[in-house]
Amino acid sequence: MIAIGSDHAGFPLKEEIKKFLDEKNIAYTDVGAYSAESCDYAVSAQKACDKVVSGECEKAILVCGTGIGISMAANKVKGIRAAACSDYFGAKYTRLHNDANCLCLGARITGAGEAIELVDVFLSTEFEGGRHQRRIDQIADIENGKKLY
Ligand code: RB5
Repeated sequence: MIAIGSDHAGFPLKEEIKKFLDEKNIAYTDVGAYSAESCDYAVSAQKACDKVVSGECEKAILVCGTGIGISMAANKVKGIRAAACSDYFGAKYTRLHNDANCLCLGARITGAGEAIELVDVFLSTEFEGGRHQRRIDQIADIENGKKLY
């Protein structure tokens, strides 16, 4: 199960991504926004990311105007590794190396066709593990207040 969410700026792209998920038979839960009426991205970020942390959802896909504000909010949720991506390489390597569990997209930056390519590679790429696991653990250590140096 994928959690998907947006603010008003991300709403149209979120709807396009949902069509792609439907075509691929990928189950998702949409936490809103449900229209292009102005709303706050942090609310959708927290709703979607809570579902990932609780285990209800495997990953989250979030969309705002730039992908940046919603990624900042998502990364405040303990256990979330959110990546704001606007290119294929980033969307792939944030899975391979960072085990990102949340993809953030900017509807005012990335067109629907490219965004769907990013979603596709993000959802289909496995974490490489190995030396990257140590670095993921260090991110969690920072989250838990541990000094790394
Ligand atoms: C909304 O106008 C816009 O600020 C928001 O979607 C996002 O781009 C913030 O980072």
